[in-house]
Amino acid sequence: VAAAAMENLISLVNKLQRACTALGDHGDESALPTLWDSLPAIAVVGGQSSGKSSVLESVVGKDFLPRGSGIVTRRPLVLQLHRIDGDREYAEFMHLPRKRFTDFSLVRKEIADETDRETGRSKQISSVPIHLSIYSPNVVNLTLIDLPGLTKVAVEGQPDSIVHDIENMVRSFIEKVVCCANQDLATSDAIKISREVDPKGERTFGVLTKIDLMDKGTDAVDILEGRSYRLQQQWVGVVNRSQQDINKNVDMIAARRREREYFSTTPEYKHLAPRMGSEHLAKMLSKHLESVIKSRIPGLQSLITKTIAELETELNRLGKPIATDAGGKLYTIMEICRMFDGIYKEHLEGVRPGGEKI
Ligand code: GDP
Ligand code: NA
Ligand code: MG
Repeated sequence: VAAAAMENLISLVNKLQRACTALGDHGDESALPTLWDSLPAIAVVGGQSSGKSSVLESVVGKDFLPRGSGIVTRRPLVLQLHRIDGDREYAEFMHLPRKRFTDFSLVRKEIADETDRETGRSKQISSVPIHLSIYSPNVVNLTLIDLPGLTKVAVEGQPDSIVHDIENMVRSFIEKVVCCANQDLATSDAIKISREVDPKGERTFGVLTKIDLMDKGTDAVDILEGRSYRLQQQWVGVVNRSQQDINKNVDMIAARRREREYFSTTPEYKHLAPRMGSEHLAKMLSKHLESVIKSRIPGLQSLITKTIAELETELNRLGKPIATDAGGKLYTIMEICRMFDGIYKEHLEGVRPGGEKI
């Protein structure tokens, strides 16, 4: 019973995350930003063009992110994956609530267009996130955040402040779980920043990208076996698609197959093959996120009790709940909170809805 209740609670946390996201700006006035901040997610941190967006795509198993050399990701992308039954697969943006995307190349185009809408076509960045949800039977429930890459110098068309602006933006997101993607660890600012926020390496996942481009040998093996940079989680090496592969439209399935072959046939990495690659990374991240959610459930419970009280006040102020769009969404969030509260009290504290002890 407790295990089933826990599953329900985890799925309610996912629903809450989705509902809080759908609420958008209105959330600023209530307890919801705090709630959103305490819902776990995985942010990807790394240098520019180290392969962050490529890693996220592989984890999701779909082609939908703009990638390439230079500063392509210029706004945070909060990506929520929702596992659904059946064989439909679609994506929705928070800024286009009634539009379902089934063609993922259009998702990529919309991310690029929506980035330009906020920043202009320049190389400027913005810390205003784009929220995207993907519904599919082939994903694990996860919230991932793609971020602009850390950089050392501004390029033509960028203000000098960009180096610090990106660093600050990254810092504001890595209170969450961190996934460090990099190929050049010796000079990695990603490692530096994650060490700062996570000195014991408890919630940092090390991902070594572009292994196919490295000099084969001891360096990579030392990193992958955790001798160079010790983290509590195991390092994962990945081989994403090269720019040439992107230009030639090499698809995800072929890319994953090639990645598997690479690790199982390269003598240096053969012994590590079972824990290398993007599929393994996806499983690890999802398992970790689930255990984080579990460990946070008692804390979330008290926050949820508080949120219910604040939402009741706010809904009273707004009048009839269904009357406005925002009111309707707040109402949904309150319902999810109440369900969470009910399941928690009944199964984890042994109190029936009426307050009677079981
Ligand atoms: P981001 O800026 O960190 O998001 O990096 P992207 O995902 O946009 O990738 C930057 C460039 O590096 C693209 O041209 C990718 O094709 C290429 N790339 C990324 N990962 C790998 C990899 O593992 N191997 C190779 N050969 N190229 C990669
Ligand atoms: Na890039
Ligand atoms: Mg990127």
